[in-house]
Amino acid sequence: MKILVTGGLGFIGSHTVVELQNEGFEVIAIDNLSNSSIDVLDGIERITGKKPLFENIDLRDKLAVQNFFSKYLDISGVIHFAASKAVGESVENPLLYYENNINSLVYLLQELQKKPEAHFIFSSSCTVYGQAEKMPITENAPIQSAMSPYGNTKQIGEEIITDVAKVTNINSILLRYFNPIGAHPSAEIGELPLGVPQNLVPFITQTAFGLREKLSVFGNDYPTPDGTAIRDYIHVVDLAKAHVIALQRLLNKQNLEKVETFNLGTGTGSSVLEVITAFEKVANQKLNYQIVGRREGDVIEAYANTDKANTVLGWKAQSTLEEALASAWKWEMKIRNK
Ligand SMILES: NC(=O)c1ccc[n+]([C@@H]2O[C@H](COP(=O)([O-])OP(=O)(O)OC[C@H]3O[C@@H](n4cnc5c(N)ncnc54)[C@H](O)[C@@H]3O)[C@@H](O)[C@H]2O)c1
Repeated sequence: MKILVTGGLGFIGSHTVVELQNEGFEVIAIDNLSNSSIDVLDGIERITGKKPLFENIDLRDKLAVQNFFSKYLDISGVIHFAASKAVGESVENPLLYYENNINSLVYLLQELQKKPEAHFIFSSSCTVYGQAEKMPITENAPIQSAMSPYGNTKQIGEEIITDVAKVTNINSILLRYFNPIGAHPSAEIGELPLGVPQNLVPFITQTAFGLREKLSVFGNDYPTPDGTAIRDYIHVVDLAKAHVIALQRLLNKQNLEKVETFNLGTGTGSSVLEVITAFEKVANQKLNYQIVGRREGDVIEAYANTDKANTVLGWKAQSTLEEALASAWKWEMKIRNK
C-alpha cells in the first residue's frame, strides 16, 4: 500500500517513514525542505535499505497538490506532518503560520474528499490543553484558548478535520503529541533544529557539545517538587510507531468514529532538572546551566494519560527517558563530527 507522508523529511516524519517501510508500506514523502535536508533520504535508506519516493512540493501551492494527486491515484493513506512549528516565530509572523498550517491542510483535504474513501492522520499537540487542571491529561480535558498562533493552527486544524469528516468519506485520527525527543538508535536520522533550539533536549545536547555556552532553565519557582516545569518526553521512535498503528486502524476500518483522538506520551512527567540529571548520567558529563526567570507562555506541567492509546490503539511507549536522551546525544555527536 502506498502512503503519503507530508513533511516526510522532517524530524517526526522521517522516523515515521522508517517505521512504515519496516511494516512493508510503500512511502511517498512530500517536503519543501523548508526545515529539513534532502540528505535525510539517504539516512532513511541506510536504515531500511530503501529510499522512499520523494516529491519536492510546497503544500501551499494548491495546483501542485492537485497535480500530485492526479499523478498518484493509488494513495491509501496520508500522514500529515508538514507544518511550521516554531512558537515564537508564530507570534512574530502569525500569517505565515496560518497560511502554511491551514492552507496546506485544506488543499490536502480538498483532494482527499474526491476519493471514495480516505484515511488521514494529523499531527496535533498537547498544547491544545493549555495548562490543564488535572494531571495526567486525558483526551477529554477541555481545549483551552491557544497561547500562540502556532497552537491555534493545531486547534483550527482539528476543527477543520472534524467538520470535513461529517460530510465526506475521510476517516481521521488526531494524534496529540506530548514532547518528542531523541533520534533513531542508528543515528542516521534525528532532529535538525535551525538556529537556536526552542526545545529543551536539543539545547542540552548542543550545550554539552560546546555549541552553546550555557543552558537556561526557565523558572525554578513553579509549584512542582523541584520548582522546574514538568513535561512528558517521548522517544520519537515510539511516537513514529504509533502513527503506523493508527494508520493500520483506519485501513482495517477498526475506528469507531470518523474522527478519533489519542494522546501520545509516556504518561510520566519529568522536570527540567530531572532531564538534566538523566542527561548528565547518560553522557557522563556535567552540564553548564543557570536558572533564569520563567518564560512567557510556558505551562507548569503537562503529562499524558495514555490509557486510551494503550487500550484502544494497543500502543505503549517503550523507551525510557535515559534511552531517548542517549539517542539524542549520539545523534548530536554524529552530526557535529561529520
Ligand atoms: N516536534 C514537536 O515537538 C512537536 C510537538 C507537537 C506537534 N508537532 C507537530 O508535528 C509535525 C512534525 O513536526 P516535526 O518536529 O517533525 O517538524 P519538522 O519541522 O522537523 O518537520 C516538518 C517538515 O515539514 C516540511 N514542511 C513545512 N511546511 C511545508 C510545506 N508548506 N510544504 C511541504 N513541506 C513542508 C518541513 O520542511 C519539515 O521537513 C508538525 O505538524 C508539528 O507541528 C511537533
